[in-house]
Amino acid sequence: MNFFLIGYMGSGKSTIGSKLAQVLDYNFIDFDDYIQSKEKKTISEIFQSKGEIYFRKIENIYLKELIEDTTNTIISLGGGTPCYGNNMELIKASKHSKSIYLKASIPILTERLFNEKGKRPLIAHIDSKEEMVEFIGKHLFERTNYYNQSDATILTDNKSIEEITEKII
Ligand code: S3P
Repeated sequence: MNFFLIGYMGSGKSTIGSKLAQVLDYNFIDFDDYIQSKEKKTISEIFQSKGEIYFRKIENIYLKELIEDTTNTIISLGGGTPCYGNNMELIKASKHSKSIYLKASIPILTERLFNEKGKRPLIAHIDSKEEMVEFIGKHLFERTNYYNQSDATILTDNKSIEEITEKII
């Protein structure tokens, strides 16, 4: 069985994913880390040197590879992974797997992301919290339809890592 964690940047996919893997004694893969180690570059370097379209192409290729090769694994996807190409179909068609959407509100995402935007090329240019709120709101409007195709949704606002992990289990 594999579990895919889906959600916007800053929704806690990696933190919850590694906790869940620890509790369930599963393997854990952070998909951004997987891409970085395959490409031998950080996500920011890939965006900078090759552009977003290249990133979306390799994201799709590595997702197929990962789905074929893994079992008993918690996989934290990138925030955009389910929203491009046939990625959401691949996730849904992948055997013995469940997808879980970690849903967080715009104010909470803004607070988290404003302080750690450096490693995230899509938001690195945003200067104020007001702009960040507007950007996330628009982006979520475009992406929610994909996120909502997950098998389950967990509302994460005001919940501890332990509470969210427990709820998923
Ligand atoms: C992206 C999210 C990032 C990373 C890349 C693009 C997105 O992952 O894949 O910067 O399109 O939302 P995280 O959600 O882990 O930050």
